[in-house]
Amino acid sequence: MMQPESKNLSQNPDIRFLGALLGEVIRDQGGEALYRRTEYIRSAAVDRARGVEGTDTGLDALDLDSTLAFTRGFMLFSMLANLAEDRAGGTNDNAIGVADALARLEQGGIGRDKVAETLSRALIMPVLTAHPTEVRRKSMIDHRNRIADLMLLRDAGTQETPEGEPVTEAIARQIALLWLTRSLRRERLYVADEVDTAIAWLRDVFLPVLPALYVHWDRALGQRVAPFLRVGSWIGGDRDGNPNVVAESLGMALGRASEAVLGHYLAEVDALGAQLSVSSELAAVGADVQALAEASGDNAPSRTDEPYRRAIAGIYARLCATFVTLTGKPCPKPSRLVAEPYAKPEALRADLVVLARGISRQAKALRTEGALARLIRAVELFGFHLASLDLRQNSDVHERTVAELLAVAGVEADYLSLDEAGRTKRLREVLASPRPAMLPRHGYSEETAGELAIFAAAATARTQYGERAIERAIISKAASVSDLLELTLLLREAGLDAVTPVPLFETIGDLDAAPNIMTEWLGLSEVAEAAKARGHQEVMLGYSDSNKDGGYLTSTWRLYGASLDLAAVFADAGIAMQLFHGRGGAVGRGGGSSFAAILAQPPGTVGGRIRITEQGEVIAAKYGSAEAARTNLEAMAAATLLATLEPPALHAKDGARFAGAMDTISAAAFKAYRGLVYDTPNFRQFFRTMTPVAEIATLKIGSRPASRTKSDAIEDLRAIPWVFSWAQARVMLPGWYGVGTALAGFEDRALLKEMADWPFLAAILANMEQVLAKSDMGIAARYAALAGDDGAPIFARIREGWERTRDQLLEVTGQSRLLEHNPALDASIRLRLPYIEPLNLLQIELLKRHRSGETDPRIAEGIQLSINAIATALRNSG
Ligand code: PGA
Repeated sequence: MMQPESKNLSQNPDIRFLGALLGEVIRDQGGEALYRRTEYIRSAAVDRARGVEGTDTGLDALDLDSTLAFTRGFMLFSMLANLAEDRAGGTNDNAIGVADALARLEQGGIGRDKVAETLSRALIMPVLTAHPTEVRRKSMIDHRNRIADLMLLRDAGTQETPEGEPVTEAIARQIALLWLTRSLRRERLYVADEVDTAIAWLRDVFLPVLPALYVHWDRALGQRVAPFLRVGSWIGGDRDGNPNVVAESLGMALGRASEAVLGHYLAEVDALGAQLSVSSELAAVGADVQALAEASGDNAPSRTDEPYRRAIAGIYARLCATFVTLTGKPCPKPSRLVAEPYAKPEALRADLVVLARGISRQAKALRTEGALARLIRAVELFGFHLASLDLRQNSDVHERTVAELLAVAGVEADYLSLDEAGRTKRLREVLASPRPAMLPRHGYSEETAGELAIFAAAATARTQYGERAIERAIISKAASVSDLLELTLLLREAGLDAVTPVPLFETIGDLDAAPNIMTEWLGLSEVAEAAKARGHQEVMLGYSDSNKDGGYLTSTWRLYGASLDLAAVFADAGIAMQLFHGRGGAVGRGGGSSFAAILAQPPGTVGGRIRITEQGEVIAAKYGSAEAARTNLEAMAAATLLATLEPPALHAKDGARFAGAMDTISAAAFKAYRGLVYDTPNFRQFFRTMTPVAEIATLKIGSRPASRTKSDAIEDLRAIPWVFSWAQARVMLPGWYGVGTALAGFEDRALLKEMADWPFLAAILANMEQVLAKSDMGIAARYAALAGDDGAPIFARIREGWERTRDQLLEVTGQSRLLEHNPALDASIRLRLPYIEPLNLLQIELLKRHRSGETDPRIAEGIQLSINAIATALRNSG
């Protein structure tokens, strides 16, 4: 890796610098022999990547201990290379910020007032989830972030850290700490751990960054913009397939979030008090500020002429009381005053606004106004709850719960035996009647009692932390109007009528049915009324499951089609639509640039409202530092504005032509994909032996079980291990399979080339190209050998499909090799490939030994380490 002068494909000086330091650490900590062996393996892999034949891999000489050490070394190198790359601005995003988007809109004749008006109706919300694809422990990420901070000092030419340590030594020490930190989790993760990790990002990054961004946006727009961009979370509320999420989890998640946000406000208010020493003897102070000062009960003689400080002491005391009430813990720095807690964030905001008004009357240039303005913004955005927490449960569970309620209430003895029309009719009757369907003290079954407890906890949470704490409940595997009505009933029983039920459509069939389901749903007068009062209705779209069901191209196209059709349904009903995109980091789960993805949304489907899941490794990548968070949040806001306000890039006539072509291509891709994955005898067995899917399930990276049921059918497997395991085996099948056959069979080549510039298809092809570049059929063939001779014909189809897909992509995009038009990404991937290959080869060996019954625990550990290392090197794991 490791010496700057040795064979290294990188032109990036940071990679060379960090790689050399890592080499030193390995030599120092692991010994000269390990260092030399690692260096040999690395340079042999580089040779092979350059086409030098016949080099020995050097892997055979590794015993188990050195295999583990070697794997860690390569993983750390990948982490450091990722860091260096992030510092250089990433590899493939043409994202712009809000100021540039405003300029672009202005050129198109769309002025700032129009933008501000759009924002007043807008909602953009990244929603953090705990989907288990982050393989790195938080301690590793924290070390990585410290190295990034030190690199900034180095950039500035600073020789010593503020603590007096030479900067290079400090970096080397952090790398040594990385080397000495166990990279695998020993204990399983609990929901509480996932909550804490998310809160750390929210507290350390979102809380300071978002209000500051608004200051910037207000200036760009020349007016105070509405709080259109806020944060959401699923952690502690998403119980679909995760029996560990229970009613207590909800209370725990919100309690901890509240502690974090109130702690932040307390510190900010305290700092304001130190600053605002304005004396009424030197400046006239308005009656409103005086009144707040009087009401504070702060009568300290030293402050009688300091009304702001007195008012702030009062606000601080009320915040302390709020902290005690909401968290059940003592205030971190208690107040001397006795005060009532704030009942709602709005009351806190109102007090802060009094101060701000007073100050702006006083002297426009008082610098604290900035801090105060940011604090007011923070209270608007984060309330007492920090992030809006969604509930999520599977429609089957809602169904069973409702069936039990209705049976016990004597309303419907066998709800589950009713057909859809019967269910809908019955549920509407129950909903129209004021008579409760739930008997409060009845002893329901464990599952039903658990569900009811969750809803009860949600109702309590909304009273405690404010209504914005929980605004939506999501229905996984939604497939009918009765699915929506069932949840509506459960919400009503708990007094949660104001919480929106949101259907999540996730298979190809459900996506196709979605427009009809929503037509029927919005056609119910009581529903339309509620949605109009709320101002919108949300629909969630599942990227991963539709991909697993129908393949990459069909999933993407049906998501597009469903969005368009849904937009028409909503327009007819006169109700604003809000789409919630359930995407992961890997292309097979809807990954790729968010900026491009938002811009590639069909015309008329964004309308200023968009929610997007952010999960796993994506969270640290996009929001791991203030700078990254600023760029990504700016990009999300800018893309939403452009997608909402710019006229469609496509003429309607072209749209229809392109759609016709896409229907044909998608049908062919679907056939090819389904033919392989679902209709090939023994495919399931092949997949299970060729990839490390079983071993991935043993990684302790999430609180939820790897599968919902005991079945080993692909249909029942969760999408994450499906995508994750194909990535490890370097096939990445969910990111491309079926596309080559479909494109090859499409006869109008000129039309296809014309369509390649359409942002929608361009985004599909760009993401697929990245996946093809990271996959490797030579390595994949070695994994396929794990499946024995029976698997050979299946693998032959995969290989052929891969080649066809690559050839078609090159032809359609007019390139002679992959990534010819994207040199930055090309260089990044080329740098990494030689480091991944030895990890793959080792993993295959370890899998063989593990599966043949060898029980040395270092083998299982080595497999897990190699999974981590490969995922880190590929960057998007699951
Ligand atoms: P889910 O998510 O399995 O929680 O529905 C799918 C995914 O994000 O891959």
